[in-house]
Amino acid sequence: MRKTIILSNRLPVQLQINEGKMQAKPSVGGLATGMKSVHQEGESLWIGWSGLTQEEIPEDLESEIDLALEEHGCSKVRLTEAEVEGFYYGFSNRTIWPLYHYFLEYAEFELSNWKIYEAVNRKFANAVLEQASGDDILWVHDYQLMLVPQMVREERPDLSIGFFLHIPFPSYEIFRTLPWREEILKGLLGADLIGFHTYDYERHFLSSVRRVLGLEVNFNEINLEDRMAKVDSFPMGIDYAKFHEAAKKNADQKDGEQSDLQRRLYAHKASTPDAKFFLSIDRLDYSKGIAKRLKAFEYFLGKYPEYKEKVRLIILAVPSRSKVPQYQLLKKEIDELVGRINGELSTVSWTPIWYFYRSLGFENLVDLYTSCDIAWLTPIRDGMNLVAKEYIATRTDKTGVLILSEMAGSANEMHEALLINPNNFEQIADSLHRAINMPEAEQKARNTPMQKRLARYNVEKWAGDFMESLLTHKQSDPPYVARRLTVDLTNTMMTQYRKARNRILFLDYDGTLAGFKNDPQKASPDAELLKMLDALYEQKDTDIFIISGRDKDTLGKWFDGRGYSMIVEHGVWISEGGSAFQLLENVKNDWMPKIRPVLESFVDRTPGSFIEDKNYSMAWHYRNTDPDFGQKRATELNTVLTSLIANDDLSVLNGNKVVEIKSSNVNKGRAAMRMIARKDYDFIFAIGDDWTDEFMFQELPEDAITVKVGRMKTQAKFYLEGIPAARALIHRFTEM
Ligand code: ADP
Ligand code: G6P
Repeated sequence: MRKTIILSNRLPVQLQINEGKMQAKPSVGGLATGMKSVHQEGESLWIGWSGLTQEEIPEDLESEIDLALEEHGCSKVRLTEAEVEGFYYGFSNRTIWPLYHYFLEYAEFELSNWKIYEAVNRKFANAVLEQASGDDILWVHDYQLMLVPQMVREERPDLSIGFFLHIPFPSYEIFRTLPWREEILKGLLGADLIGFHTYDYERHFLSSVRRVLGLEVNFNEINLEDRMAKVDSFPMGIDYAKFHEAAKKNADQKDGEQSDLQRRLYAHKASTPDAKFFLSIDRLDYSKGIAKRLKAFEYFLGKYPEYKEKVRLIILAVPSRSKVPQYQLLKKEIDELVGRINGELSTVSWTPIWYFYRSLGFENLVDLYTSCDIAWLTPIRDGMNLVAKEYIATRTDKTGVLILSEMAGSANEMHEALLINPNNFEQIADSLHRAINMPEAEQKARNTPMQKRLARYNVEKWAGDFMESLLTHKQSDPPYVARRLTVDLTNTMMTQYRKARNRILFLDYDGTLAGFKNDPQKASPDAELLKMLDALYEQKDTDIFIISGRDKDTLGKWFDGRGYSMIVEHGVWISEGGSAFQLLENVKNDWMPKIRPVLESFVDRTPGSFIEDKNYSMAWHYRNTDPDFGQKRATELNTVLTSLIANDDLSVLNGNKVVEIKSSNVNKGRAAMRMIARKDYDFIFAIGDDWTDEFMFQELPEDAITVKVGRMKTQAKFYLEGIPAARALIHRFTEM
């Protein structure tokens, strides 16, 4: 039976050993709490780290631990203390976490940690390979395991591999500072589908892929050598019913049934009925802006002193990554801030801040959510922030105000909340003031639509959408069918070549015979190429055609006096045996004055781009522009052109860094077909690298030999890796 393998560093349970006894505790953090619900639903195996190092696990407890994990549908990856140090505390939490959250000054770039990160990712990949069978689906989670998708793909390309990043993906300007940026991107691209919480993270990722790896991106698909990887955003939801039902139960509790925490909260509410509780819940992490929040609270009480003794801030900070120095410093800073503010402002009957530094059980979490009038969450950066969603889900009577940082991913979906910039104390103080005084009707009007959305797009739906998208993509994008032109295949082809009585060869020029240059006029043929083509031309019973999108003047000049036949401008002109160019197709060019100003406006606005005028087509080249920007402009130009040429018989060709407008009835395929109809050819060969060559590959007869240069998706039968390989193959023809 097909199963889903969930792979993450954290398992849903964390193991601890106390006085020789094993204890399992639920994990905190968005990934583990969210995926837990998904895991419980279907047929799945969750592989991850138990939270204990190998050194901490007594030998006699090992099997007990494995058994306990098995009961939770989990299996553990064994990590030594040194591995946890370098991989988890080191590279994951001292390099990637700060960098991806824009804390560049905290990011450490240690080669030794990177090496351990690689080795531990290999361990996780091996754990998957041991367990994966048949058509299993692998879902890899988060920044600790970014190399795993490619590592698994290398061994098991048949598996459907998904990856989800639970934290932000930073802008290219930040990401580029990472010394191992290429390796990370290549690791991620091993997945069939890569998911992010928001569209912003998605577009940052695509931009880095384009700039760092120079890969072609079409909307949200990345063109890889032998397949496409898809990228999309899926905002993670929560187990809405679980929180909502727990809150209802909490409201129905009788006096004796309440938790100790709940009783105390009620008691305080009863003694000061007008007082408002502000709630702040996070892991103790610098990205969550806890220290700033404390300072903002002090600022608020300074600006609105009438609320002294009328409000209370409840801060719950969950211990996290406490071996990382930044977290230790933060803990110290928060302890001091709470101490100072409470010391300065407390009165006999009022302590402004209640501070808990611990993990709480689910019931207590719900006690807090349901008892606090205002949830105040101010992360400086946060991939999603599920606490915000959980708070809204527990408000069964629809009251309560959510104040949320616009830097949290969840702010994209929760625009009815009071959104604030965590650095703007003035705005925060005013939002707190507004929240305290918000009429109940307004609170309900804001929370109702949020609850509806959270109930609908819950964590199950989120996971379901991701899985569906992964499977549909995998099915619709089988690996390319073109075969690599191996030595054996080439030898067979040569035998056919020798035996043939009438041969015809179509050779594309740029990207096949010659490399791209920043200035297209500089890509003239070198002596070696001319010698090879001359030798082919001399051969009996062989017709060669250089078939190109270039203009007739350039190719006419370059091959002047050589005598080879040429088809240029995609098939508009033909020159045979050194004769002058003749029109092959009857085409018009009266549309050009209409299109030229449009292209000029794109040249003006896109530095590095230029127009190439041909007799019957016009091309806008963007090879020398910023790759991201150029691509964006090309998409924009396509949109503009599509509406502009709707009534003309024109088409837009998207070539290699070029957008070309030409008559619809002209293409290389049609031109090649006209040539082969003239004789009884028994060896038909076409080679090309570009989109525009696909017309030939598509239209030539079944027995034609078609070769794509480069490993892009193609209709050709074979592919070769690059220009030198293409030339070497053509050279074989001359040695017949
Ligand atoms: P992050 O993933 O960065 O920790 P999120 O807000 O997305 O932040 O997720 C935090 C998760 O951890 C939530 O599901 C929340 O319920 C849980 N959690 C937060 N604080 C506690 C706590 N004190 N005890 C137990 N669970 C907690
Ligand atoms: C965030 C990360 C998770 C991580 C969690 C808790 O949610 O995205 O990958 O598990 O924080 O952090 P920890 O370091 O304790 O696993």
